[in-house]
Amino acid sequence: MTSTSEAMDTGDLIARAEEGLGLARPEIVHLLSLDDPAEIEALYQAADRVRRRCVGDEVHLRGVIEFSNHCRNNCTYCGLRRDNAKLARYRMEDDEIVECALGIAEGPCGTVVLQAGEDPAFTAERLCGIISAIRARTPLAVTLSVGRWPYEDLKAFRDAGASRYLLRHETANASLYESLCPGRRLSDRIECIRHLKRLGFETGMGCMVGLPGQTVEDLASDILLMQEMDADMIGIGPFIPHGDTPLAGHPPGDAEMVLKMLAVTRLVTRDTNIPATTALGVLRAEARKRAFFAGANVFMPVYTPKKYAPDYQIYPGKAVSVHEDMPLQEVVDYFSSIGRPIGAGHGARRKR
Ligand code: 5AD
Ligand code: SF4
Repeated sequence: MTSTSEAMDTGDLIARAEEGLGLARPEIVHLLSLDDPAEIEALYQAADRVRRRCVGDEVHLRGVIEFSNHCRNNCTYCGLRRDNAKLARYRMEDDEIVECALGIAEGPCGTVVLQAGEDPAFTAERLCGIISAIRARTPLAVTLSVGRWPYEDLKAFRDAGASRYLLRHETANASLYESLCPGRRLSDRIECIRHLKRLGFETGMGCMVGLPGQTVEDLASDILLMQEMDADMIGIGPFIPHGDTPLAGHPPGDAEMVLKMLAVTRLVTRDTNIPATTALGVLRAEARKRAFFAGANVFMPVYTPKKYAPDYQIYPGKAVSVHEDMPLQEVVDYFSSIGRPIGAGHGARRKR
């Protein structure tokens, strides 16, 4: 902690942040460094009030289809990395993906998220066909989570009917990013995020917490970057080591730090859509629930067919789908028991 942050009054800081006065970097660092349980609780409660005021009590559900676990990239943290020869690879057929989306449309989700590694077998043309089929046959909003693409392809996805796109920046520390993602640059990723905004996509960013060598200053930079880019959706989860990757021996991220990140992000970004991520639930099931009392307002149930879901192993313990361990009715009942109705419609970001 810096001497500036020691001099800060935490209560005042939280009160000013709750009013929407913004937070400077040292103030964000101060809040992320809180270790007094009462102060941490005050931070979560303020974020919870801002969540209620800016996006309401509704929880929006996004149904995720993980349609391919092939990836041309080699991110050192991820189980889908190219060099992981132990992973059984799969690719869904186009029809199978559309069928799965039809199933989602019958339930309470207003949005489908098409997610995959960067799989060259899915060309832009092929993805456009899938997007337009889903748009023609369901009322779902289509969100893509398919990595980096050139501007022209992103435009084709938009023209085919996709309206949202998730592209986590992973970490705002460029040298850390470049050490974790061999051969790739943070600036290229940020440029792609700019393209998405320019094309009118509701755009998601996000980061991992607890990456090897990552500091609390880096986490403050993540929040400031997402604020500066005006991200519409923000996914933040802990790093979870995967045994078949170069980061196997590293400790996982801290669930409390993830919750503090969610809370501060809510205080700063106000009306964004913030999911309680699966990774947080893998770390501690109750932490994912607590996220809904610390700023989160989105839940993303996994609809990937049973026969594939266990192989979408970005990190271990992830295969929790609506078909197996998490029947959607239980999720809906849980939210209704805590006074959080399921949002109707697409659940787009409510602009100020
Ligand atoms: N632990 C937690 N999250 C991970 N991701 C990839 N690997 C891991 C891991 N080991 C996240 C990245 C990526 C998203 C699909 O999953 O943020 O963008
Ligand atoms: Fe591929 Fe994404 Fe995993 Fe990197 S994080 S290896 S781009 S699936």
